[in-house]
Amino acid sequence: MKPGSIKITGARVFRGREQGIEEVEVLVEDGVIAEVGPALARSAARTIDATGMLLGPGLVDAHVHMRDPGATHKECFASGSMACAAGGVTTFFDMPNTHPPTTTAQRVRDKLSLAAAGSHVDFGVFIGATPHNLDELRKSTGHCGIKLFLGASTGDLLVDKQEALELLFGQTDPSWVIAVHCEDEDRMRALQKAHQHRTDASVHSVVRDDRVGLLATERALDLAARHKHRTHIAHVSSALEATALSLRSKVVTAEVAPHHLLLDVSDYERLGGLAKMNPSLKTAADRHALWQALHSGAIDAIATDHAPHTLEEKTRPNIWDVPSGVPCVENSLGLLLDAAHRGSCSVAEVFTYMSEAPARLFGLASKGRIATGADADLVLVDPRCEHLIDNASQWTRCGWSPWHGAVLRGWPVLTMVRGAVVFEQGKIVGEPRGRNACETSERG
Ligand code: DOR
Ligand code: ZN
Repeated sequence: MKPGSIKITGARVFRGREQGIEEVEVLVEDGVIAEVGPALARSAARTIDATGMLLGPGLVDAHVHMRDPGATHKECFASGSMACAAGGVTTFFDMPNTHPPTTTAQRVRDKLSLAAAGSHVDFGVFIGATPHNLDELRKSTGHCGIKLFLGASTGDLLVDKQEALELLFGQTDPSWVIAVHCEDEDRMRALQKAHQHRTDASVHSVVRDDRVGLLATERALDLAARHKHRTHIAHVSSALEATALSLRSKVVTAEVAPHHLLLDVSDYERLGGLAKMNPSLKTAADRHALWQALHSGAIDAIATDHAPHTLEEKTRPNIWDVPSGVPCVENSLGLLLDAAHRGSCSVAEVFTYMSEAPARLFGLASKGRIATGADADLVLVDPRCEHLIDNASQWTRCGWSPWHGAVLRGWPVLTMVRGAVVFEQGKIVGEPRGRNACETSERG
């Protein structure tokens, strides 16, 4: 029996989109999955009796803002990755709109070092596109992709001139993912001007409407198709965008955020500025269309867009002074399991959209699946557990959730990263041991 080995018995195990869920045993040795099957002969140093539980591959959250460096009073790699571990997220990809922004090869290296020192789970780091950093983009290595803001959001990363966009798509490695924030800057500015007098929170969805998203999405789809450049549409938020994506070329993939699946404009009344994020919340009909798009395959994955801001900022009386973004990494799995319980999707689809698909989209061959040889990144879920989301007990440093007060059915109880338990019985276990998940991924 190998030291540190773990055998999980009795659980219903997610085996992938094709195979679905099976009752099998899983043996973990040396950080990887050594064996999967019914009644394994070999024993392990520790056996976890998971009867009645559900075992899934750890989530791969391809869109988070950890605020490190520069705004660590909102989040840092340690606090954010603890939130990940508690929520069953075993790999996250960090966005470049930090201070300083991650826009040079050196800053990618610096951020990778910060993450390696602080993170309890595995990670990737996006490099941000600017109108002038093509050389840096071309020479940078070790990142998980390029982030492009077609419309301005938190921070000042923005590339919206056609000439710069043609160079970006035409002269970077076409196998690298360009993840695009799709909001049209010109339409947004015009709408902002027209509605400046309004002070209600819902004005945010008026100035960042569905056409703002559609215009930029069409632009990204056009660039991707002409340059045959791997492109990923971030946080799709409307029926219009989902329809445009159903005609995408095969180099394009897309993600949707839990808040766009679960909240809509009717929630402004209850949440005010807490419901402000970019892209904005849309209507209930849009929300339904996003679920449909997931089921039809027009949208591939779920990513949180975890974007912590302080509660003081989010509750400012003037909506124009409230920064955009909501935290989510520790609640995303619980929220989606609860949605599955209510019939929006199946439990197998939760793991498909949140783990298997994002791992495949970003070329992480050893993540997102429970199979012999894969990294032992696992999350054990109690499907019957009723969990209350409470601002007082959030792991994220910002200390609040737009779902404060919600009671969810189904909750992660144990998380493992490459064979080491990092979260169990409500507590973080061990020191930071996260690694760059993209270091060795294939890059054409
Ligand atoms: O709501 C958002 N918040 N959307 C973004 O694009 C950025 C993010 C942030 O960094 O706060
Ligand atoms: Zn984002």
